[in-house]
Amino acid sequence: MDSLMQAPFILFLIIIPLTILLGLVLSALLPQQKLSYPPGPKGLPIIGNMRIMDQLTHRGLAKLANLYSGILHLRMGFLHMVVVSSADVARQVLQVQDITFSNRPATVAIRYLTYDRADLAFAHYGPFWRQMRKLSIVKLFSRKRAESWESVRDEVDSAVRVVSARAGTAVNIGEVVFSMTKSIIYRAAFGSSSKEGQDEFIAIMREVSELFGAFNIADFFPWLGWLDPQGIKPRLVKSRKSLDKFIDNIIDDHIQNSKGEGDETDIVDDLLAFNRDQATGKESAILLTRDNIKAIILRSTVASTIEWAITELMRNPEELKKVQQELVDVVGFDRRLQESDVENLTYLKCALKETLRLHPPVPLLLHETAEDTEVSGYHIPKKSHVMINVWAIGRDKDFWDEPETFMPSRFLKEGMPDFKGSGNFDYIPFGSGRRSCPGMQLGRHMLELSVGHLLHCFTWELDNAGSGIDMTDVFGLTTPRASRLVAVPNKRVTMSL
Ligand code: HEM
Repeated sequence: MDSLMQAPFILFLIIIPLTILLGLVLSALLPQQKLSYPPGPKGLPIIGNMRIMDQLTHRGLAKLANLYSGILHLRMGFLHMVVVSSADVARQVLQVQDITFSNRPATVAIRYLTYDRADLAFAHYGPFWRQMRKLSIVKLFSRKRAESWESVRDEVDSAVRVVSARAGTAVNIGEVVFSMTKSIIYRAAFGSSSKEGQDEFIAIMREVSELFGAFNIADFFPWLGWLDPQGIKPRLVKSRKSLDKFIDNIIDDHIQNSKGEGDETDIVDDLLAFNRDQATGKESAILLTRDNIKAIILRSTVASTIEWAITELMRNPEELKKVQQELVDVVGFDRRLQESDVENLTYLKCALKETLRLHPPVPLLLHETAEDTEVSGYHIPKKSHVMINVWAIGRDKDFWDEPETFMPSRFLKEGMPDFKGSGNFDYIPFGSGRRSCPGMQLGRHMLELSVGHLLHCFTWELDNAGSGIDMTDVFGLTTPRASRLVAVPNKRVTMSL
């Protein structure tokens, strides 16, 4: 038994020297490319820069960019990584050479759990992605899709009622907001406003999301994948089985209760109708899985931004006062905030833009090159993983006055970017170009309505006023707050909630 367990280790010891030898022979034989890679820290043979793997976060990469430049190169095993941290290089990548940079990198885990990229967010740029993107924009996230928008209204109202019932006591805002966005997504995707199945869905998605980010040797040395020292494979198989079972049940349920002409539909109904049109047998499971992945992006991006917005405003009472005064001027105390009010809530929108500048929920845009190319005079090989550091660009002192300060009024100035950014590429919280966020309208709607309602209906005071607010973030697919925000709400409107 012991010798069996040692076998992979002995093979590992044989393979590494052989690989080094092969690498040396090949580099001597192959013609050298003319342009050099962008600057970056020197790596070791074979493993490259894998020793600084823990620095591949928005903060770690911003520090490296300060040492090197707005474009830097890292090698992780056999993988080339390019990090973009300046607005000018971001424009090269997202606009000038948009098509070359429009593929998505995907780890072994992502490929397996998305049925080999059968998902809008992880599909490579091409006909399949184009079709999914069109379907999403026209059918799933469009303003016309009343169900998604109605679920936002209902669930925001329900969160306000939960807070109202606890007025005068400490409320964990993070939990309220997380539960609200979870219900919005679940309803928009699966239709039912009941909470049944939600917890199972969240547990599955949590494991999937963890597997997406887990270190896997096979991503850097594909032929060592069979070693699987972290035991990723069994977790992947188990996770996909639960995902399949959950989705199959939902599909069966929707097929049995199929909607007629004129009935309100959810995303599953729309996808099934789409599948029927396409008449492609087994496609439904794949399409639904895609939607689950979208749901991760949707849930966590919006929830963390709502929490950050309220946190920043509570840390900056003068700014909070301005937003709340505007709500009184536009809405008053005796009626609820309506969707039509939002266009007049200029300062609220500035505060949300400023929150997205300082705390972009997707801090690193992940792209992949479809072919060899050149940027800023440097060689970028085909299949390089490209990370655009939105977080660092939003805090670049060459573009922003007092970049670390929360200052919503900066967005009142003439020529400042809108939510979707400007031609300068100094503000890109929703990305830009072909792979930019298709859910921006829905995301904005959720943000404006929920933050607007929570600040219109209540005053908020810190529960632990003396100790200040912990502003640490956590790095992952999105950047939530490290600790949850707890505050005491008190009703400030006269109408009943
Ligand atoms: C505060 C809200 C949100 C922010 C800041 C945000 C931001 C982003 C960013 C930065 C990207 C990647 C862009 C790139 O790689 O260049 C993205 C992609 C995406 N987002 Fe959002 N997002 C938000 C809400 C939403 C919502 C509400 C939905 C769905 C209804 C959504 C669905 C997607 C999808 C499907 C993609 C992948 C698109 C593709 O690869 O073609 N997002 N989002």
